[in-house]
Amino acid sequence: MDTQYILIDTRGDGPRRTGLITLNRPKQLNALNDGLMDELGAALKAFDADEAIGCIVITGSEKAFAAGADIGAMAQFNYMDAYKGDYITRNWEQIRGVRKPVIAAVAGFALGGGCELAMMCDILIAADSAKFGQPEIKLGVIPGAGGTQRLPRAVGKAKAMDLVLTARMMDAAEAERAGLVSRVVPADRLLDEALAAAEAINALSGPSVMMAKDCVNRAFESSLSDGVSYERRLFHALFATEDQKEGMDAFVNKRKPAFKHR
Ligand code: HXC
Repeated sequence: MDTQYILIDTRGDGPRRTGLITLNRPKQLNALNDGLMDELGAALKAFDADEAIGCIVITGSEKAFAAGADIGAMAQFNYMDAYKGDYITRNWEQIRGVRKPVIAAVAGFALGGGCELAMMCDILIAADSAKFGQPEIKLGVIPGAGGTQRLPRAVGKAKAMDLVLTARMMDAAEAERAGLVSRVVPADRLLDEALAAAEAINALSGPSVMMAKDCVNRAFESSLSDGVSYERRLFHALFATEDQKEGMDAFVNKRKPAFKHR
């Protein structure tokens, strides 16, 4: 796939590899324009369909994961440009359809759409240099790719209101305390740590990984009793897989499992 705004690579040498996507508009701090988001959506779709890929990592540069949607591109929009062109939703929602785990490896600024993109990922690993925020209010708009919905679910109403209404940034330590990020690592270890997490997931049974992700996401879409019953159905379903036999037999016989992803 020819790309202008992102770099696409694979990492790892096991039977299941990691798809690595690097946002690559460093001079614009990876501002997210339509071209970048189209490429990102296509790359995610291709990795999701690739049997040899177990997990996907999205990262940016040292200075910025992404400083938001491209303000220059939006500046002259009128209502009909935004609405009819389906700006944002057209290509931003692709990531929600990805069934394999997506890890965000965030260094530097993750602002506006950049913070929203990171929050759409399943695991968010932050460098100690990371800064998160939803500063759209300073531009006379509001978050438009889920920021007002995912941020309160992650950090609670009090902190979400603080960030969305004052536009202040939150550093990595505060983001970890608030529950926005999965873990914080030294900046020079960021990619290694994200790839190691991906490798650990790649070694597991693909069906159980996808169902685990599906179930955790269900927690945000359903009542507790509906979610628990959904989880139970999928738990039972996994007994139909070869990998369940393999995983449990390996434990009982004190050996390493060799999952077939079936
Ligand atoms: C377009 C951007 C940009 C953006 C930075 N740049 N953010 N271009 N869209 N979101 C460009 C700058 O214009 C500049 O280009 C270059 O990147 C470097 O940025 P500087 O401002 O010079 O760097 P610095 O002084 O270090 O400040 C970094 C910063 C600041 C604090 C991150 O750039 C900033 O406030 N950016 C905007 C953050 C923001 O408001 N994000 C929300 C966008 S709205 P030149 O050519 O001058 O070198 C949004 C809506 C989401 O995301 C809706 C759903 C998708």
